[in-house]
Amino acid sequence: MTRLKIQIYSQIMQQKIVDKLRQIETPFYLYERAILEANAQTLLKYFKGCQAAIFFAVKANTALHILDIIGKQKLGAEAVSPGEVFVCLRAGFSPRNILYNNIARKVDDIIYTMKKGVLFYNFEALDQLAVLEQCAKSLHKRIFVFARINPGIFPETHPHLSTGARSSKFGMEAKELGMIVKAVKRLKYAKFVGLHSHIGSQILSPMPFVKGARKVSDFIKYFEDHDIKVDYVNLGGGFGVTHHPNEKPFVFEPVVKAYRSLAEKHGVKVFLEPGRFIVSNAGYIVSKVISIKRRKGIPLYILDAGMTENPRPALYKAYHHIEPLFRTMRRKMKVRVAGPLCENTDEFGIYYLPKLKIGDRVLIYNCGAYTRTMASNYNGRLLPSEYIIVKSSLKMIRKKQQFPSLIQNEIY
Ligand code: LLP
Repeated sequence: MTRLKIQIYSQIMQQKIVDKLRQIETPFYLYERAILEANAQTLLKYFKGCQAAIFFAVKANTALHILDIIGKQKLGAEAVSPGEVFVCLRAGFSPRNILYNNIARKVDDIIYTMKKGVLFYNFEALDQLAVLEQCAKSLHKRIFVFARINPGIFPETHPHLSTGARSSKFGMEAKELGMIVKAVKRLKYAKFVGLHSHIGSQILSPMPFVKGARKVSDFIKYFEDHDIKVDYVNLGGGFGVTHHPNEKPFVFEPVVKAYRSLAEKHGVKVFLEPGRFIVSNAGYIVSKVISIKRRKGIPLYILDAGMTENPRPALYKAYHHIEPLFRTMRRKMKVRVAGPLCENTDEFGIYYLPKLKIGDRVLIYNCGAYTRTMASNYNGRLLPSEYIIVKSSLKMIRKKQQFPSLIQNEIY
């Protein structure tokens, strides 16, 4: 397979853009449309080889503007709650292009999504299959269901991001296959169409995906041996992105090869639901230094962005690269970078940065995925505004929250 060459030009350090970024109140989220589009195209081109249909995992980013760009790249959406389904529909996705997954859900949630026309659902326990059948029956709907079976694979990622390990709460155990087969044979309104597997997130090695595909093949064989046709396999997302300049990018070839042979061997159509790969490096947080002190001889820079805007360092010890938002020849030195919250874990970590002064702006990288969607109002902080760079212009796509949102819906 020839290597794909999709060139992504970051516009961010163009002087015209930097000048505009200097005028905006920090912190704020910033996206680059060209990178988003290039990431989606990269996936579409790689997985053309196995004719995969790609659904963006919207839990990574739910901004309508971002979803609209992704939808225009001909991707569907993967949602895990009625709220996400609502947002996807508002962003213009057809309900037929929305997959609804989750470990467990309530009847009302499913009724909402079925009434909206969502057709594809996974189930991760037999009680959940019963709920789906009951909802489809009550609405006289035909729906299509996928069984998520835990492949028992521990990918090389942060333990909090591993969902394919046997101890993980996700999916059903392989020893339940017999019961699953019996249950799907009894369905009247829900139609069993395939298997679902998602082994984890931010995985930078292709091997766990190759191993996962082999496990899925064994599971398909089990269904085939019991006279049940498997038409689709949803192989999830999980493709990792580089966070550190020294990291090597994800190599897709072995994964595409494994997924293609799985599709050919069993005559199944492949679905994928990546999130991070599409948006992570297309987003940043622009922040500024608001205080400087020293700890054990090392400068400690306090930024005006922290775990409320990007909880990933606090949750997973994730490294998010930081650079000044200006060109400088100043010598780099070892520093600590923290956020401004009244919380000890609100810290980005150790960095090598040029000497900074109060008011200097910095770019925090890889903030397009799982940052704004996991952000919070902790410490009474307001969620910041969001901007996007389109060609060489800058556009606001969400306003900063205002104080009334902190007490919205309270009865007082
Ligand atoms: N499909 C399923 C069933 C998932 O659970 C997930 C992510 C995805 C697809 C998309 O995975 P991706 O391609 O984005 O890796 N908050 C964590 C990530 C949690 C991911 C949860 N599930 C983080 O900040 O790293």
